[in-house]
Amino acid sequence: MIQPYRIKSVAPIKVSTTEERRRWIEEVGLNPFRLASEQVMIDLLTDSGTAAMSEDQWAELIRADEAYAGSKSWLLLEETARELFGFPYVLPAHQGRSAEFALFGAKLEPGQLVPSNIHFDTTAAHIAYRGARPLDLVVEDVYRLTEPLPFKGNMDLDKLASLLKEQGEKVGMVTMVLTCNSGGGQPASFANIKAVSELCRKHGVPFWIDAARIAENAYFIRRDEEGMQGYSVGEIVRMIMDQADGMWMSMKKDALANMGALICCRHREDFEAISQLVILIDGYVTYGGMSGRDMAAAAVGLREAQDHDYLAHRIGQVERMVERLSGAGVPVIRPAGGHAVYIDARGFMPHLPAEKFPGWALAIHGYIAGGVRSIEIGPVLKGRDPETGENRLDIPDLVRLAIPRRVYTQDQLDYVCEVFVELRERAVELCGVEFEWEAPRLRHFTSRFRWAGRAEAGA
Ligand code: F0G
Repeated sequence: MIQPYRIKSVAPIKVSTTEERRRWIEEVGLNPFRLASEQVMIDLLTDSGTAAMSEDQWAELIRADEAYAGSKSWLLLEETARELFGFPYVLPAHQGRSAEFALFGAKLEPGQLVPSNIHFDTTAAHIAYRGARPLDLVVEDVYRLTEPLPFKGNMDLDKLASLLKEQGEKVGMVTMVLTCNSGGGQPASFANIKAVSELCRKHGVPFWIDAARIAENAYFIRRDEEGMQGYSVGEIVRMIMDQADGMWMSMKKDALANMGALICCRHREDFEAISQLVILIDGYVTYGGMSGRDMAAAAVGLREAQDHDYLAHRIGQVERMVERLSGAGVPVIRPAGGHAVYIDARGFMPHLPAEKFPGWALAIHGYIAGGVRSIEIGPVLKGRDPETGENRLDIPDLVRLAIPRRVYTQDQLDYVCEVFVELRERAVELCGVEFEWEAPRLRHFTSRFRWAGRAEAGA
């Protein structure tokens, strides 16, 4: 699939040397979050808020209306969301996590349980902040990292059914994250989503969707699920939403926007209760913390993100990287997910013990070797067990190369593959890291590290 767009405006990349990068990353305590973006050549830290906008988005942004109440850009966004997702009620929020604050504040009670496939970190944190308990009930297949099994983002229906049967009255809501970011960007099938919805209805429990990457999930359903090829991505998105009581969406992903979020729902009582918290935290219900410009860009981006050619190219980019890397012996999560390539760092550097944080170290080695910024999704990010105070070394230790939408060309992504293939060839020389200073909470953002082993590694 060729890139189905032309480049119209460019941002320069400052080309740096290995020595410069080693100095820069050591100066910031081996923490990629603390680098200036100009010190990075290919920035794969996140696919969130990093998309390149289209000419239609820029045009709508110029037309944007910055009125406090009833902005025409809000009305455009609201109408677009109603049409694409089919819910009668739509609310704005400034980003996904503030939507989560308002949603769970309105819908949950302390002590309730909230099962999902795998909650995203901010979601789990907001559920816990409300005094409720997030539970991850994803299928076991997701933990067979390199086996290319389909729909690894599915909910384990047996586990959900028995939870609802045994403790149904304690379940505040069921959610599904589509695609499942914390499970390698893997999709759930339509059949699985429908079965979850039916179980929820049977037990009278609300069902909500975290729709941050819903267009990508619908694309996978159309491509890989039996009987779904006759529907467009847009139709599949509507069929998914028809199963739910509501959805929230960080528009920094599949709305091709740099900022913003939505909450959409079917029931008036939900709309009214959530509105109160949106106003408290994000602002009036016709902007919710977004500027008119943000809303204008997102209204256009929501539609563009459902374009089949765009999605085929985007998912194709990730797939090609996964094939190149796994063909060269780099252990990566398979099949390719929607928005990122995930390297299994323990498989990449089997000589390093888990306590030397191979995932964190590999992200640093990738930066020094090629100027590629990525991030560990593993024990450093997860933090210590609140009960034992120990590092959680029993979870996978991955490096995520998240692909911003419409930003990098194929040669640039081929270059990223070369960087990791070359590193893999000399993986035995690479050393791990240890904490120099450990931040008390959300430690990955600000902690400082030092090399655990030979300081010259990574050259
Ligand atoms: N839900 C999912 C599935 C996400 O991936 C994110 C953010 C959020 C909710 C929260 O949205 O950032 O707008 O507040 N994911 C980003 C990432 C940060 O890099 O994966 P937000």
